This record gives sequence, structure tokens and C-alpha cells, in this order.
Amino acid sequence: MQTAPALNEKRNGIAPMEGSSVVSVIIDGLEHEGSEGERLVDLINRAGVKLAQVCYHPQLGPIETCDTCMVEINGQLVRACATSASNGMSISTVSPKAHAARQEAFDRILSNHMLYCTVCDNNNGNCTVHNTTKLLAIEHQKIPFQTKPYEVDNTNPFYRYDPDQCVLCGRCVEACQNVEVNETLSINWDDPHPRVLWDGGSTIGESSCVSCGHCVTVCPCNALMEKSMLGHAGFLTGISKRALNYMIDVVKGVEPETGYGSILRVSEIESAMRESRIRRTKTVCTYCGVGCSFNVWTKDRHILKVEPSEGPANGISTCIKGKFGWDYVNDPDRLTTPLIREGDGFREASWDEALDLVARRFTEIKAQHGPDSLAFISSSKCTNEESYLMQKLARAVIGTNNIDNCSRYCQAPATMGLFRTVGYGGDSGSIRDIANANLVLIIGSNTAESHPVLATRVQRAHKLHGQKLIVSDLRENEMARRADLFLHPKPGTDLVWLSAITRYLLENGLAHEDFLRQWVNGLEEYKKTLGPFTMEFASQTCGLPVETLEKVAHMIAEASGVCILWAMGVTQQSQGSDTSTAISNLLLVTGNYMRTGTGAYPLRGHNNVQGAGDSGAAPGTLPGYQSVDDPEVRSRFEKGWKVKLPSTKGLDNHQMVDAIHQGKLKSLYLEGEEMAIVDSNANHVAAAFSKLDFFVVQDIFFSTTCRFANVVLPATPSLEKEGTFTSTERRIQRLNQVFEPIPGSRPDWKITQDIANRLGANWNYAHPSEIMSEMASLTPLLTGVNYERLEGYKSLQWPVAADGSDQPLLYTKKFNFPDGKARLFPVSWSGPVEKPNTEFDLHLNNGRLLEHFHEGNLTYRVRGIQEKTPDTFVEISPELARERGVQSGTWLLLISRYGQVRVRALVTDRVSGRELYMPMNSTESPVNRLTSSITDPVTHTPAFKEASVHMQVLPEVGESPLPRVNPRFGHPTPQHGVEVERKWKRADYHLPGSQLVQIQQK
Ligand code: SF4
Ligand code: SF4
Ligand code: SF4
Ligand code: FES
Repeated sequence: MQTAPALNEKRNGIAPMEGSSVVSVIIDGLEHEGSEGERLVDLINRAGVKLAQVCYHPQLGPIETCDTCMVEINGQLVRACATSASNGMSISTVSPKAHAARQEAFDRILSNHMLYCTVCDNNNGNCTVHNTTKLLAIEHQKIPFQTKPYEVDNTNPFYRYDPDQCVLCGRCVEACQNVEVNETLSINWDDPHPRVLWDGGSTIGESSCVSCGHCVTVCPCNALMEKSMLGHAGFLTGISKRALNYMIDVVKGVEPETGYGSILRVSEIESAMRESRIRRTKTVCTYCGVGCSFNVWTKDRHILKVEPSEGPANGISTCIKGKFGWDYVNDPDRLTTPLIREGDGFREASWDEALDLVARRFTEIKAQHGPDSLAFISSSKCTNEESYLMQKLARAVIGTNNIDNCSRYCQAPATMGLFRTVGYGGDSGSIRDIANANLVLIIGSNTAESHPVLATRVQRAHKLHGQKLIVSDLRENEMARRADLFLHPKPGTDLVWLSAITRYLLENGLAHEDFLRQWVNGLEEYKKTLGPFTMEFASQTCGLPVETLEKVAHMIAEASGVCILWAMGVTQQSQGSDTSTAISNLLLVTGNYMRTGTGAYPLRGHNNVQGAGDSGAAPGTLPGYQSVDDPEVRSRFEKGWKVKLPSTKGLDNHQMVDAIHQGKLKSLYLEGEEMAIVDSNANHVAAAFSKLDFFVVQDIFFSTTCRFANVVLPATPSLEKEGTFTSTERRIQRLNQVFEPIPGSRPDWKITQDIANRLGANWNYAHPSEIMSEMASLTPLLTGVNYERLEGYKSLQWPVAADGSDQPLLYTKKFNFPDGKARLFPVSWSGPVEKPNTEFDLHLNNGRLLEHFHEGNLTYRVRGIQEKTPDTFVEISPELARERGVQSGTWLLLISRYGQVRVRALVTDRVSGRELYMPMNSTESPVNRLTSSITDPVTHTPAFKEASVHMQVLPEVGESPLPRVNPRFGHPTPQHGVEVERKWKRADYHLPGSQLVQIQQK
């Protein structure tokens, strides 16, 4: 008698099965344990019984299109993928009936797919069709292969579809409809020749496909393939199409004689040969804060493909950037030698010369003007270990707390709002907890474009599991279009309607009194401050009807769990910290903390913006948010680092710029930030840079900021280094080195160490793991973090205790204050500082685009992304376009109080009235030439979203800035997954094995 191994070991976030009772089943005469309701196919797989299953993918669930998983239970043939385990079930996988049914089903599969494995780029040991042919010991097909009357579709820059290889399993459709929820794909089951359709029959290139790659990732064969694989993966696949066709003919020609067995044996030899030259390295995405992880397949320096499968945040999911956005790594413009300014230009220098110069100038400036005349900025693109070293260099080697990172530009107000109310500056749960919410409220976040994979989990829960969605934004973005309720408040007024709703809930008996009594301090004082926030005041201030606001209040009160997601639409306002606080206050008043499906989720923008702050790259806090003015904290670090540390808070990014203008700050060392165009009021920032005595910029390309540098140091991208990133879920994940650094470049941590050592530090880190161990030893938040615990796809969500236990859900037992209780923190309303007037009469909003990241220094180097989204633009409402005589493609001059940019118009109903929207992705026309130096007074985060402009219509009219191949112009075809029932209704369909059963019965 056998027993099944441990249950529920690791599932990737889509179909959790927790809390079910244990059942006993018999599989082919042996007893196994499973859980009640578990999919039989999972139980059979765990038992180690080999069963065909072409269309089944654990993260997609049963889609029942292939019929290759048939088993016999009590004389009945059933699909194992669609049958739930129950106690006492007796299953036969080996009965003649089950065997014959699977053979018949797979024969139909092969009639749709030409087996030419040896010359196929998908012959990598993981092709489901190949492996099933072998498992079922197929020698010859009963139903011959039939070509389909369609051409191969090559119109997407990243992948292609070959209908003749498509086995119509529908995995891609399910992934697109119900995991990515872009709803582009379907199968025309009613057609004589079914195939996969994009937008019901468009070419891929002109469809709504957002190139997320889900479909390609889950395709069980070579029907959908990354173009980067084609001709590169195999030893025999790079040959000419003509020669390849001859070879396919040869394979088909010998099949009648030899059978598939020997053909597969040859292909397996070729597949094994590939092992020696194809590397698969797990890494973490370098773009946004969702924290997708995946294997990168490489052959020498060629990226064959990105394969997401078991990442704890993403499973099979990616967006266009993580799946296909890597051309920049091998871009010929990469910096490969240090540069030293000479007059108006630069000359190449050796590393020794450049580093010596940096050390000499830092020493001179420190000697002449003191340590606080130098400042350091780390990058949220760099690893935790690199940010840790950067702040250690500033504090322990130079002796200043002038250290910051770009979370100042986006996340600091959200962190502040949470510090004030619940005690930790991080998301209160995981992406899974958001998916579990009964109601999701998104405020000021273009989630589908800024955090695409996270957005898919909300879209899926909304589409399939009855989750409600409210979106508040100036634009009717993708999430707003799906929402049950879309609010469009006046710019910068979220604080008011949030506070009014909170007051309404409290006054109408809709607050969570028990939760407030048990877990929250400061209720009475807080209530007193809500006086001004009546519904009428909110309605007038925000431009939202009272009824709508009441509806929102009741939806929140009635929901069993509410998650609030917010981003830069909230934080980049002059009241960003207070609005973030109001969000947390609302959650506390309604008891929406301390369990799954609830909580506060400020969505972190860059891949490691959470980690840069966690690692101490901030002027007031050492790693783990330990205050620099706390003597106990300082003495711990002083002991660890064996130096005396400065005790007063340093300058943040914003103050650094002012201090340069004032002549107080003489030198800046900037790592991996395009600050000259991503900081607000870019002209003001650039003017500051040109006043610096000594400016060091470390980057992988010669950025706009590099133009102001005295020394430019060539660093390496994430694929060329080891380290860790911390995602928006507080999830710490390891990235492994995919490539050697290109000659001449060095990982940032090594450069920082080289500089520190030239300044006498004597650091000897041989590997980032040693840096992490040191950081963990000094940082209670990270005590239990080490590289062994982060091996492979393992991850940790801080805080991490010494025994390695972490906290995916924060605040399960207490809030992070000494008495364990949260605090309601009163906020008042002052309103946006910069408002439109008669001269600057239009409000200018800005934000991200799906295809590009931030200013676009990386993504504009990806050829396929260029094709889809070649340039920036400004979105203009149809009514304003009519009024000003503007059409898509009209050139405009946008003029603000701070600068001007020339940009093409895109007329769209995503925006309305006199509100414009400009993506931040441009180095030629950066939106930040128009934004101001006004900041949130608490965190000094610039009010990027408070901009007013005058629009001058220029005489030139160009082409629309977005080409027809941009997915915005597609027409999705939403449906309930693959809709296999339509296949079952076909006249030529019968359940495999059923005719055999009828014959036996006769
Ligand atoms: S959006 Fe495009 S790439 Fe993504 S799953 Fe759908 S068809 Fe595939
Ligand atoms: S293209 Fe889609 S339907 Fe065709 S084999 Fe691949 S996943 Fe299955
Ligand atoms: S950019 Fe964000 S959503 Fe896209 S793959 Fe990378 S981490 Fe995932
Ligand atoms: S695996 Fe069960 S029907 Fe395809």
C-alpha cells in the first residue's frame, strides 16, 4: 500500500485549495491520499502515475478540449482534469477502455500537428505533444495530418502563430481570456477548420494583443513561438526554409517505415545536445514593482526566450516588458569604458584613472567643504545590496546622511501615510490577498499599464469570482472601463471624498465598531477633525454627485473585504502624504486590515523602489527604517561598521537640488537614475547639475543626466549581476547572473566598493550574499534573510524572523506600534497648489504606458516595442480637440510656468474636458520640463500631477503618434474562456472511447 506525498505543496496562486479534508482513492490498485475536491489529474500526477494531459495546465485549470486524460471510474470514462477526487474513488488509468480513449483523442491531436521534432525549435525536452507521443507509444497516426487553410501569422514583432502546428488545445485562449484577461483570443469551433483567432479574425499585429506572452508561454507545442527562438534553439533549425522543408519531408517520408518511435529517438538525441549550449537562469524582472520572476533561456549572449512558470508573484504571467523587453542588454550603445569630462566633451579613461579621480575629488571636496557638501543617490533599479553599499559609502566612509533614492518621487507619501496609521511602510498583504478581496478600490493608479500582472489578478477576480471594482481616476483607463463604478473627481481632490465617506460611515452606523474598539487608537480626536468633510462639501469640491459618494460608502460597508490600491495619482500631489493617510484611515474605520482580502496597497513603481528604501538609501533612516537620530540604532551600526556615524538627517533628492543652487552641495554621486528628466521641473534640476563642482553618474547608457557629469562609470543591467530585489509585496527575490558583464562594464556594487576602498574603507565583499548577510545582521526587519533561503524561486516577504519565517500578510496579530494598535491620524484639506488659470488653462496629468518604462531609456531600445509605441504624445479629449481644431498627429507646443515641450496630439475619450495626459516616456520631450518644484510638505515628493499648461497649436500635422499596430486600436472579443461546449456540439465530435463502448455494448 502506498500513500501520496504531502498535499498542497506549492500552487501558483490561481486555484488555491486550502482547508479541504483528506480523502483516500485507489489508482490502478494502489491507495493514495488526496484532498476532497482536488482535481483528479493533480492527484494522479502527484502519485507518479504517467497520464497524458495535453490541454491541462495547473495554473489554467481544466479546459477539457483534448480528451487525452481519460480514465475509467466505475466503468465510466471521465476526463481526469475535470473530475474531483472523492473518498473511496477507484480509478483505472490502464483499463483497455481508458487506454483506447486516450489513443483516439491523441490521434485527433496529431491530425492537427505535423511531427518534425528533430528540426523544430521547440524540441527542448518540454514539448507536450512530443512527450505525449512518446508516452502513448504512438507509432503511426490513424487520422492523417491535415493542413489548415491558413497562413502562418508573423505580424507580431515578438511571436508567431503557425495554424498547421496548432492542436487546438485552447490553452492560449484560456490564458488570454481568463489569466491575462485581455480577451483577444478565441477559437472558431463552429468553422470547418477551427483555428485560434485574434480579435475574432484580425492579424495578430493589428489586434488588441498587448504582447504579454501568456499564450506563447502556455502553448504545449510550437504553434505559438517566440521569434527569438526560431532558427536559434536547435542545431538543425537555423537552416534555410527550403532546406528545412526538405528535412521535414524526409522525416515524414521515413515515418511509415520506421514509425514515430525511432524518429523521436533521433530528436531526443538532438534535444539532449541542446542542453550543452542553452542555459536557463532564473532572474527577476527589472521593470515594475510587481516582481515577476522567470527563467531566461540563453545561447551565448542571445536571449532565446523568457519563461515564466513558478514565480511566487506571477506564475505563468508577464507583461510585454518582462517577456520581450530585453534588447537593451545587448544594445551596441552600452557604455563600456569610463568617461572623464574634458572641456565640453568626454574622453575615454581606464577604470583606475576614473576611480582614482572620483576618490581624489571626493576627498578634496570633503576636506574643503565638509562631508555634508557631498550627496549620494541610489537607484531603485539597482539591487538591495547595491543600495545598502551606497548608503554605507555615504554614511560610513564620507560621513554624511545625504543619501536618497527615487522613492522620493513616488512612494514616500504612501509610506508616510502607512507609518502614521499602521506602522509599516509596505503593502499590507500579497497580490493573492488583493485577488481575495470582495471589493477593490483603485485610486490614481493606471494599474493595467503600470503594474500589468498585478492588474490581471484583479481583472480575473472581477471577471470570474464576483469581485467588485471601483476606480477613481482622471482618465478612463483600462481598469476604469472594467469597473463597476468609475469616479472622475476634480484633480487632486481624493482626500476630500475619502474623508467624507469615512465621516458618513461613522455617522450612519456603518463603521466597524468592534474593530475600532479592539484595534484602533484616536477615534474620538479623529472624529472631531472630520467636521468639514460633509458629503455636500465633497460633492462640490470633487465634482461628484452625493448619490455616487453614498453609493461608494455603501459598497465599502457591504463588502466582506476591501483592498485599496493607489499610486502616483495620489502620491504625486501636494497633499500626497495626507491623502495616503486618509486611505488608511478609511480602511481602519471599516475594519479592513488584518485578514486576507483587505488592506492598503500602495503600488510600488520600479522593480526595487521598495528595496531601495528598505536598504537605507534615505536621508533619515538606516536599513530597515531605523532612524539615524536614534542613539541605540546608531551605536549598533557604528559597532558593525567600526566608524562614527552622523546623527542628523541628511538632504533628500529635492533638498539636494536646492542645496546645489544655494552653493552648499558641491558633489553628487548618482547611481542609475535619469534624474535630469524624471525629476519634476527638469530645467531647474538640469541647471543645478551644471553648477556642481564634481558629478559622478553611473549608468548603463550615456543618459541625458550623463551630459552634466564629470565622470561617467559604466555599470551593468540586472541580467549581468547577482543580488536581490524587493517587490511591492515586500517580497525579496534573488536574481542570478544570466550573462557576464560586457567587457568594460562592472556591477554597481563592485564599483561602489572600489570607490569606498580608494577612500580607505577596506571592504572585501566577494559576493552580494555577504552584503545581504551584513545588512540582515544589523536590521531587525530582515534578520532571517539569507541567500540560502532565497535559492531558486524561494522568496521572503519582510519582516523576516531569525528562523526564516516571514509575513505575507502583515498585521495578523498586531499593528506595528508599541501597544499593537493602529492610529487614526487626522488630516485637513488645503487643495492643490498649482491650478489652471486664464493663461495656463489646461490641467496636465502624466503617467506610465504599458509598453515603455519610465523615461524609456531601456524600452525604446526594444525593436518590437518601438514598432508598437514609437513616440510620446499628449492625450486630448474629443471636445477640446474640436474646440481647438486639433486632430491626432497635430503638433502642439505645451507651455507651462516652468518650460515647454513640442509633442503630437492623440485625440481620445480616455481623457475629458480640459484635462490632458502625457506619458512620461520620452527623453526628447520629457513631461517634466512642464512640472513644478512644488512638493508635498511632509515628504518633499514633487507634485508631478499638479501641472497647468497653455496649448499652442502648431501648423504641422503629422501622422498619429500611435500606429495602427498599437493594441489600443484592437477590438477584444470577451468570452468565458475557451468555450469547449461549442466544440462538443460539432457534428463530427464524439467523446473518445464512446464509440468503442457502444460497439462493446452491442
Ligand atoms: S494579449 Fe496577446 S500575447 Fe497576451 S495572451 Fe492574449 S494574444 Fe497572447
Ligand atoms: S496555439 Fe493555442 S490552441 Fe494552438 S496548440 Fe498552442 S496553445 Fe493550443
Ligand atoms: S514589468 Fe512588472 S508586470 Fe511586467 S513582467 Fe516585469 S515585473 Fe511583471
Ligand atoms: S487534459 Fe483533460 S481534457 Fe485535456
